[in-house]
Amino acid sequence: MAVMEAAFDPKYGEAWNRRQVGDALVTPNTRFVLLDVAGGSPDDAADAAGFTLSRQTLDEEELLLIAVAPWARRRGVGHALMRQFLAISDGNGVTRQFLEMRAGNPAEALYLAHGFAPVGRRPNYYRSGNLGPFDAITYSRTSS
Ligand SMILES: CC(C)(COP(=O)(O)OP(=O)(O)OC[C@H]1O[C@@H](n2cnc3c(N)ncnc32)[C@H](O)[C@@H]1OP(=O)(O)O)[C@@H](O)C(=O)NCCC(=O)NCCS
Repeated sequence: MAVMEAAFDPKYGEAWNRRQVGDALVTPNTRFVLLDVAGGSPDDAADAAGFTLSRQTLDEEELLLIAVAPWARRRGVGHALMRQFLAISDGNGVTRQFLEMRAGNPAEALYLAHGFAPVGRRPNYYRSGNLGPFDAITYSRTSS
C-alpha cells in the first residue's frame, strides 16, 4: 500500500484502496509480485520499490496494476517487474496477456517494449479523477 499510495497521482483516481487490494489477493488465480531493490526484507514497506497485480483466467492473464514508487523510477524497476510478470505468466501456460491503460500514460512505452500492442479503445472510460475523462486503451501480447 505504501507503493500504491506513492505511485499513483491522486488527480487520476487510479490507486486501489486497501480493501480492493485485499479482495483481489484472496481471489483465486490472482498473482502479486513485489520487488525490493534495497536488498532488505520484502515485508519492509520502506524497501518495496514496485509491484504488479495480475489475474489469470484459463490461458489468458490480465495485468491489473503495475506501479513503481517515485524514488525508484527510471532505473529499470518497471522493466524488471514486467519481465518477472511475463516469465511467471508464460510459465503458467498463459498464451495471451492483456492490460488496459489511461490514454496518455507514459507507461505505454514500457508496454510496447515488452511486446504489447494496442487492440482497442474505450472512449471516456476513466472518469474517477479530477481531470478527464480519458479514453482507455487495451493492449494485448501473445506469448511466443
Ligand atoms: C509506469 C511505471 C511503472 C514505470 O516504472 P519505472 O521503474 O520508472 O520504469 P523503468 O525505469 O523500467 O522504465 C520503463 C520504460 O518506461 C518508459 N517510461 C517510464 N516512465 C516514463 C516517463 N515518465 N516518461 C516517458 N517514458 C517513461 C520508458 O520507455 C522506460 O524505458 P527506458 O528507460 O528504457 O526508456 C511508473 O512510472 C509508475 O509507477 N507510474 C505510475 C503508476 C502507473 O501509471 N502505472 C501504470 C498503470 S497501472
